Amino acid sequence: MKLNYKKIHPFGAMVETAHPGNAPQQVQVSDLRALFNQEHLVVLRGFQNFASKDEFCTYCDLWGEISLWPFDKVLELVEQKNPEDHIFDHNYVPLHWDGMYRPQVPEYQIFHCVSAPEKNQGGRTAFSNTALALERISASERELWARTSGVYERKMEFYHSKTVAPIITSHPTKGFPVIRYCEPPKAGDESFVNHPTYDFQGLRQEEVEGLIQGLQKALYAPENFYAHEWQTGDIVISDNYTLLHGREAFTSGASRHLRRVHVLGSPPLQNPHLVFHS
Ligand SMILES: [Fe+2]
Repeated sequence: MKLNYKKIHPFGAMVETAHPGNAPQQVQVSDLRALFNQEHLVVLRGFQNFASKDEFCTYCDLWGEISLWPFDKVLELVEQKNPEDHIFDHNYVPLHWDGMYRPQVPEYQIFHCVSAPEKNQGGRTAFSNTALALERISASERELWARTSGVYERKMEFYHSKTVAPIITSHPTKGFPVIRYCEPPKAGDESFVNHPTYDFQGLRQEEVEGLIQGLQKALYAPENFYAHEWQTGDIVISDNYTLLHGREAFTSGASRHLRRVHVLGSPPLQNPHLVFHS
């Protein structure tokens, strides 16, 4: 099958099947991986839906080794009543990279939209291309970010971990500069359930506010930022080594249901920033 795709602005590619209902397996993963390497985010739209999470896993197996979590392979991203963590709330999720608190960091996040919210209910998944962002920052920002590390600690159902990561580091296999950053929740947001603790090293206390504001401006700048509005059946494969991601808030009770699988790189990336994990 010839790979037809449209570019997404400002990064990413949308592959829509000319024959709705075709199985996604009919598109060669080698072709999709080449597109992923170029665009950092690939959307498959209009293909046959996975009938079960096992079918979804069978598809993800084509991309590489699936990372195992305490809950197994598939994270069910669906709003819970009285959630113990913001992931399972309808609130926003600040930008972060997956696996930052885990022994291995996945290269690929693969999402399947089991059920999309209505158009006016929010819930887009937000992606920031940190390689693009770094091409556009000022020399003074680069100097500040290059000497600063974020210190994050997070305790939730699946782990209690601490991570210290430089704001600017290198893509682990391709070498170009990327940002690793876990965005603090909005100040004073009491509705945000179970946020991580965070701190910064390598800069003066009076520089912290400027750091956070500068990162926010760069990461959310329209030329570096894409928010995916889900349609039922969408499959999104995103580059967790280069992008940061988060979620926009959505209307409580909306029929938003995503499944997410982590696929490791080859070889798997051992988390270079993990201080402790239990
Ligand atoms: Fe995440």
